[in-house]
Amino acid sequence: MASLTITPCRPLKGTITVPGDKSVTHRAIILTALAEGASTIRDYCRGEDCLNTMRAFQSLGVRIDESPQTLHVSGKGMWGLTEPFGPIDCGNSGTGIRLMAGLLAGQDFFTILTGDESIRRRPMGRVVKPLRTMGATIAGRKGGELAPLAITGTRLRGVSYVSPVASAQIKSSLLFAALYADGLTTISEPRLSRDHTERMFAYFGIPFEREGCTVKIEGRPSVRWGGKPVVVPGDLSAAAFFLVGASIVPESDVTIRGVGMNPTRTGLVEVLHRMGAQIEVVSPREEAGEPVADLRVRSMPLRGVRIGPDQIPQTIDEFPILCVAAAVAEGETVITGAEELRVKESDRIATMAKELRAMGARIEERPDGMVIQGLGRNGSNGALTGATCESHGDHRVAMSVAIGALTAAQPTQIVDTACIETSFPGFEGKLLELLTASGNRL
Ligand code: S3P
Repeated sequence: MASLTITPCRPLKGTITVPGDKSVTHRAIILTALAEGASTIRDYCRGEDCLNTMRAFQSLGVRIDESPQTLHVSGKGMWGLTEPFGPIDCGNSGTGIRLMAGLLAGQDFFTILTGDESIRRRPMGRVVKPLRTMGATIAGRKGGELAPLAITGTRLRGVSYVSPVASAQIKSSLLFAALYADGLTTISEPRLSRDHTERMFAYFGIPFEREGCTVKIEGRPSVRWGGKPVVVPGDLSAAAFFLVGASIVPESDVTIRGVGMNPTRTGLVEVLHRMGAQIEVVSPREEAGEPVADLRVRSMPLRGVRIGPDQIPQTIDEFPILCVAAAVAEGETVITGAEELRVKESDRIATMAKELRAMGARIEERPDGMVIQGLGRNGSNGALTGATCESHGDHRVAMSVAIGALTAAQPTQIVDTACIETSFPGFEGKLLELLTASGNRL
């Protein structure tokens, strides 16, 4: 089993890029597959999650050629997908399975969507139930609560759906179904979740309306969208590890080029600023409808903060690494309204509390968040204690623990780190690059 050993070292120095945004890559593959003609997707995320979505569309009859930097997609048009021969394996990807469930519900063929052990434990009822109100025929374990999902494509009808959770996966699943439905679909969510699907609809010229947290779309649009070049910004959720790493390891100075700065994703940068971090946003620009910037981060002592329900959606994937920042900061950090963390790749409240406690952090679990008493040792050697930790099969847990381990006085071994490949192939190499720039080794 793959493992990663971090020996305490410092500081982090240099300039890097990070993999392309995972959320944007999934959507780019879907929309270029449905476009009429050729598209390119440059700087795509080569993590397993996105490669599984790419393979899924290949099995749906779309030609996609891979090169290390660019995907070349020969779009088949909105009605050009064909029935796959076997089940589609979405691997570890909640985004892949939920978005595809919506898209496939309105086709005129049968598909089975499945995934790894983690995916088969995660809630699917949140998309299956509203899709059924649109007329979808979806079967699955526990009445459709759990994957595998068997989808018999049918003609869908538009609905008005008020989602109880702010979730881009629910919203996007319904948006893809709505494209194939008769009439108008209206989707409302309690807070705005990431809006990459809407931005990419706009980029390809697919008509919809948005007002606050409500999106409206008329199904079976008469417009046909052609292929386009898509440039994927660097993933802020991958940059997050180095934003925190360089903040908490003394004398660090790191620049990350070309990072996506979509305001529905930048919660971590705002929270770190409130904690006292020194992060400069340099050369803001826009690529394929998404804001992008370079980020320069220099180490700074951090202080605890309160993070409430309003800040959860735009920070949702960054809580594991935020826990690390809070664990070494001065003072208390309180996170509330974050019960969604319990249904991610792992139960991230439980797994982060367990692993960081093993490293000497003081963390109390709450049903909807946690209270972290910072050790106040940010910037000092031995903020955390070296330990043997587990990833729980969760890529973000594995990488967060690795960053925390940089502040420990002893080496840390993280067991079962193959999962890092789901979103950040080359993570260890990037870390090494920043460490060797200042004369360190892993
Ligand atoms: C994602 C949405 C979020 C996020 C996930 C990616 C997306 O999930 O946690 O990593 O690409 O739509 P939820 O929609 O369940 O909040």
